[in-house]
Amino acid sequence: MDVSRTQVGIVGAGPAGLMLGHLLHRHGIDSVILENRSRDYVIERVRAGVLEQGTVDLMRDVGLGGRLEREGLRHDGIHLAFEGVRYRIDMAALTGGRAITIYGQSEVVKDLIAARTETARPLHFNVEHLRVDEVTSSQPVIHYRHDGEQHQLQCDFIAGCDGFHGICRPSIPAAHLTIYERVYPFAWLGILARAAPTSRELVYSLHDRGFALFSMRSDEVTRLYLQCSPDEDLSAWPDHRVWQELAVRLSTSDGWRPAEGAITQKSVTGMRSFVADPMRYGRLYLAGDAAHIVPPTGAKGLNLAIADVLRLSRAFAAFYGSRDSGLLDLYSEVSVKRAWRAQRFSWWMTSMLHRSDSANLFDYRRQIAELDYLVSSEAAMTSLAENYVG
Ligand code: FAD
Ligand code: DHB
Repeated sequence: MDVSRTQVGIVGAGPAGLMLGHLLHRHGIDSVILENRSRDYVIERVRAGVLEQGTVDLMRDVGLGGRLEREGLRHDGIHLAFEGVRYRIDMAALTGGRAITIYGQSEVVKDLIAARTETARPLHFNVEHLRVDEVTSSQPVIHYRHDGEQHQLQCDFIAGCDGFHGICRPSIPAAHLTIYERVYPFAWLGILARAAPTSRELVYSLHDRGFALFSMRSDEVTRLYLQCSPDEDLSAWPDHRVWQELAVRLSTSDGWRPAEGAITQKSVTGMRSFVADPMRYGRLYLAGDAAHIVPPTGAKGLNLAIADVLRLSRAFAAFYGSRDSGLLDLYSEVSVKRAWRAQRFSWWMTSMLHRSDSANLFDYRRQIAELDYLVSSEAAMTSLAENYVG
């Protein structure tokens, strides 16, 4: 058995865990990052694409802005489409110049792994049988197997950045956590396609056959989503059917429609809203999807995860810099409050833009009326823009 120690043991090498490790490094704080998947799997997982202004600013401030600056696509606005018409919301004009940037989560993760590798601080992939122990003591421990050897990592603190299906949150006794949850009766069928985007900006569309979203990853790659059922069978969706349905739900009367191309990835993602409160138990701190999930319609999940770890890194820096645990004590309360803000927005965007099986025609007309109000009221557009850019 190998026994070692660190200041902060980080479980999970998604955006939250990797960014936390990077921020701690910049404060001179030791960490070990442990991930149960392979490096390739973590990099190739296709997920988020929209970075809020605050996430972009942070990446730049911590020395990760180079490729983002060159390859990220800054968008000042988004489109909402319904009843065959596209309306543009000029987010930058409504928020004093704030915008979003399209830069795939895989690119963020690649940049963070490269930065970690440069520091030579530990980042282990393919760890097995990881469990956290003694988290209410002054020296919590992470047990795991790696390369056939059993390890015991003694920590001052553990950061649970292991996503929704991780082990950190379930290791907190149920009596110490309140869970708030809503599972939606629909999902997203997402594709990546080798096709040049036909719109410079995103198009969120409500159609009577369901929601569709037009997004992109680069000048050559389109990312598209279709509302489907949570148990949708992908084999019933050959490429030609996907394109046909996208054309029906996205095309507008001005002749706009997405261009078709070779589909390189296709998957179905369920949708839920989830909050675990508090985000701390003893010396175990939860961050990102380990603590909360939002439905993807508001593009908030990754940004929320990054906001959590920025707050947590500042709290650890105050603790190690001046033995001040005030920020650590406040971490959960402040993070849960911010998570609820994102929950409200993501729930609202989701319910406005999706057709629910149980909804009758009244609900659909009400949704159209809401969109109609939204695109005709500067106050309503400003509210959407403020929440969307973060
Ligand atoms: P994760 O990315 O889930 O990382 C957790 C890591 O922990 C994983 O690498 C996992 O393998 C690892 N792990 C799990 N269990 C263990 C264990 N036992 N031991 C060790 N490691 C473990 N968000 C946005 O902001 N904008 C968007 O546009 C957007 N679009 C999305 C579209 C889709 C289709 C999906 C699915 C999500 C989208 N999201 C979006 C959400 C975003 O991808 C997540 O919120 C984000 O990945 C959260 O990061 P995280 O690091 O907290 O969790
Ligand atoms: C993307 C994902 C989202 O959830 C969203 O709201 C907008 C864009 C994307 O993957 O590009």
